[in-house]
Amino acid sequence: MDEKRVEVQDAWRQRAHIDDAGYRKMYAASVADPEAFWAEQGKRIDWMKPYTRVKNTSFEPGNISIRWFEDGTTNVAHNCIDRHLETRGDQTAIIWEGDDPGESKHISYRELHAQVCRMANVLRNRGVGKGDRVTIYLPMIPEAAYAMLACARLGAIHSIVFGGFSPDSLAGRIKGCESKLVITADEGLRGGRKVPLKANVDAAIARLDKDAVDHVVVVRRTGTAVPMEPGRDVYYHEAAEQVTDDCPAEAVEAEHPLFILYTSGSTGQPKGVVHTTGGYLVYAAMTHEYVFDYHEGDVYWCTADVGWVTGHSYIVYGPLANGATTLMFEGIPTYPSNARFWEVVDKHQVNIFYTAPTAIRSLMGGGEGPVKKTSRASLRVLGSVGEPINPEAWEWYYRVVGDGRCPIVDTWWQTETGGILITPLPGATALKPGSATRPFFGVTPEVVDAEGKVLEGACEGNLCLADSWPGQMRTVYGDHERFEQTYFSTYKGKYFTGDGCRRDGDGYYWITGRVDDVINVSGHRMGTAEVESSLVAHPKVAEAAVVGYPHDLKGQGIYAYVTLNQGEEGDDALRKELVAWVRRDIGPIASPDLIQFAPGLPKTRSGKIMRRILRKIAEDDFGSLGDTSTLAEPLVVDDLIENRQNRP
Ligand code: WTA
Repeated sequence: MDEKRVEVQDAWRQRAHIDDAGYRKMYAASVADPEAFWAEQGKRIDWMKPYTRVKNTSFEPGNISIRWFEDGTTNVAHNCIDRHLETRGDQTAIIWEGDDPGESKHISYRELHAQVCRMANVLRNRGVGKGDRVTIYLPMIPEAAYAMLACARLGAIHSIVFGGFSPDSLAGRIKGCESKLVITADEGLRGGRKVPLKANVDAAIARLDKDAVDHVVVVRRTGTAVPMEPGRDVYYHEAAEQVTDDCPAEAVEAEHPLFILYTSGSTGQPKGVVHTTGGYLVYAAMTHEYVFDYHEGDVYWCTADVGWVTGHSYIVYGPLANGATTLMFEGIPTYPSNARFWEVVDKHQVNIFYTAPTAIRSLMGGGEGPVKKTSRASLRVLGSVGEPINPEAWEWYYRVVGDGRCPIVDTWWQTETGGILITPLPGATALKPGSATRPFFGVTPEVVDAEGKVLEGACEGNLCLADSWPGQMRTVYGDHERFEQTYFSTYKGKYFTGDGCRRDGDGYYWITGRVDDVINVSGHRMGTAEVESSLVAHPKVAEAAVVGYPHDLKGQGIYAYVTLNQGEEGDDALRKELVAWVRRDIGPIASPDLIQFAPGLPKTRSGKIMRRILRKIAEDDFGSLGDTSTLAEPLVVDDLIENRQNRP
């Protein structure tokens, strides 16, 4: 394929931490002797008890075990706050920009310390201690960061649930990790619209055993009166008045869990990805520094929500560990107008900006006008994450947003990887629009074919990682076997990412998307199995199969094939009803975009749904269905094609 190449500009190289020769040398050293490399990098954070062992990891079948810096002890909140107090107590740690453009505030490291200690004391007074799970269901307000860091301070394990998830999804996640305490807000505020968070928490708890949740801590955001259950619910501002702003940071083992984050996989319900303390923080901090070419004094903005892993690693933990000023945005890119991102960049003089391709694509629709009326002169580095960025969006981001001055770091990683694994480095890597380019230090990608044979040189196949890195997830919460099964059983001895990829002659990686039954809708992961199980729970539905299809704005859309029960009629009213049903059940991000009523689904004689065929039809590419000879009833395919929903 003939592709465009954007060389490193002199200005990028001059201020960067590392140039191309430096990258090559350091990368080679990192994979030649990971022990020595990470022994050195581990020193980026403070340890209460220094580690003597660095890497103790095994991808061997039956013995998947990942341990880094295991005999050291530390505390993440200490590293993100306390250790900065002496040198940067008055520096802004968090710039909060509200949904309403008139509302923003600066929180210094000293204030962050006080706020986090208070929150920690509120939690401790309610019985939260080391190892306890706390569910956080908050909007993008500073209290979300306080809550995360308060848990870390106590050695408690947080599980953040994105505010867009339904009460059912929330209930499943509270139950999954048995948290006794939930932190929420009266309401969230996004794009001028209110999100009934407390009401959702009440509805979620109503679905659980009577004594499942002991405490609900409610942050006042909009001030709307919400029902408070006596003895269970407390307003945060009232509880915070009762405690001091001093709380010691508990020393925990490097492998003590820091958080659980539920994410979708190809089968079953979402799994609780477990990240631990030492290795995770070292990796988040190091990648934040190198990938974004972060320097002292930079204002850094990642537009993700803290409900996703990007918010964990690159709004809170990585930047704060580096003593950065991190911007936290409550709103959406299109409110009050689609110039909002660029207005915020000017308002706070943002230097580093990290967003998702889906946001770029949605703003491209509004043309260059809203961008060009802002200065954006402060911008230096632009980042992209969450899904492949198509070359058109890349060009627009580079040329229109960055005025051709700023490198774009297209960062490939996953909830499971904890931090960025494949990415350009601003002063080192020539860019190719659409390519995540080269592995970060210590990362060993391998492209394998369907049989697991490792491919060499330019090739295309499935993306695996040959060895561990410190940010890697350690287990699936409560189910280590599922961890092994999901990630280490397809290709023995390797971590399988679930992504397909191409490697070109320059050794650059091009992620082609998921090769499993996970779809990526606006950069949000959805398991097709989850949407299917929601649909079949509807009384009129007999069977459902869900696949992704290319969608101009969202990257992928959700295409559902639905077989109704005998006697039911598939019409537009029922389509709407099913969409509303899934929204209510899982959350708006899972809403099917297209529903096709199908009298039958293509199955093998053994009853397995042939998804390959369904994908092709959803892509409107039914000319190349491949081998259909194993179908039990080949005629169903004709009907599916005839009634397909995705005609151009
Ligand atoms: C996809 C988000 C192409 C990929 C950090 C991965 C990407 C999944 C990129 C993980 C990228 C993420 N280019 N694809 N730069 N970044 N992906 O767990 O399919 O929400 O497996 O983590 O998003 O999504 P997750």
